[in-house]
Amino acid sequence: MKQTLASSLESIRDEAIRSLEDIHNLEDLHDWEIAHLGRRGALTQLLRQTGQLAPSQRPAFGKRANAIKAELQQLLEERSALLHERALMHDLEHGAIDVTLPGRHFHRGGIHPSTQTLRNFYEIWSEMGFQVFRSREVEDDAHNFEMLNFPPHHPARDMQDSFYTDRENIILRTHTSPGQIRAMHALSDNGTQPIRVILPGMCFRYEQISARSEVQFTQVEGLAVGRALRFSDLKGTIHEFAKRMFGDSVRVRYRASYFPFTEPSMEVDVECFLCKGQGCSVCKHSGWLEVAGSGMVHPVVLRNGGYDPAIWSGFAFGMGPERLTMLKHGIHDIRYFWSNDIRFLEQF
Ligand code: PHE
Repeated sequence: MKQTLASSLESIRDEAIRSLEDIHNLEDLHDWEIAHLGRRGALTQLLRQTGQLAPSQRPAFGKRANAIKAELQQLLEERSALLHERALMHDLEHGAIDVTLPGRHFHRGGIHPSTQTLRNFYEIWSEMGFQVFRSREVEDDAHNFEMLNFPPHHPARDMQDSFYTDRENIILRTHTSPGQIRAMHALSDNGTQPIRVILPGMCFRYEQISARSEVQFTQVEGLAVGRALRFSDLKGTIHEFAKRMFGDSVRVRYRASYFPFTEPSMEVDVECFLCKGQGCSVCKHSGWLEVAGSGMVHPVVLRNGGYDPAIWSGFAFGMGPERLTMLKHGIHDIRYFWSNDIRFLEQF
């Protein structure tokens, strides 16, 4: 028995060494390792039979087995190094590595043009004392319409304009104006404190998507409430913003307009910054660009926000940064904004 096990050990070693010589690639070497040194390999199997030896012979047998194992391990490493070296030489000689090829291009992320414009807005408005107030994108009908003084059958409440959810009266906000009500409740301390905020965020309208209109877009709402705010404060504030955004010499024009939640209401145009008012394709040859809707907060809205309109007054405005971004960069199709096309995004 002793003889058999000991001689098996030697023949396993001899066989392993001999077969290693026939191995010329790394896959075969891996198979060789499993066959000779693996947990199911011949050597391990044999070691399991150590118990059959007389106790006095076990140490010598174990010692020899370990020596063989170490020897085979060593040979394996040498072979492996040799084969790697050969593989590398082969690749170099056969041009698998062409060091003259240009490097692989990695796409780098960037800041979305819309976010860039938003940050520009934040900077300007914060310098002018407006803090950012975030309001929810999913709104109820009451905040989005009713409390903003929309008459019951106003066309903007029509299914055509709003995305409805399967919860009754819960919609995606169609503008940032419902945030006015929420900001008044959150910040005015029951209608006793003035507020000055901007409310940036995504809005959603159920509309035909085209180069000029998307179903989602960003708005930046502005709201100021104080004890003696007047229409001239609104005009002065908007003009100051326009100067900081487009330069000191920019001209601003106000047109009477209508919104249910402001009275009086006006639309704001700035002189086209591309043609300086001369008329070009961007401003459709009018020389002016429409940048905001605005007005004095309607007394009904003030009351819904918790203020007494006999004491408090306010002004509000809403701007669309995407339009400005498009004009600034000459982007002709708004659908690029949310298409996540890296070829578009990496240009900014
Ligand atoms: N909410 C209006 C819109 O979406 C814009 C607006 C905001 C007008 C605030 C007046 C005051 O068109």
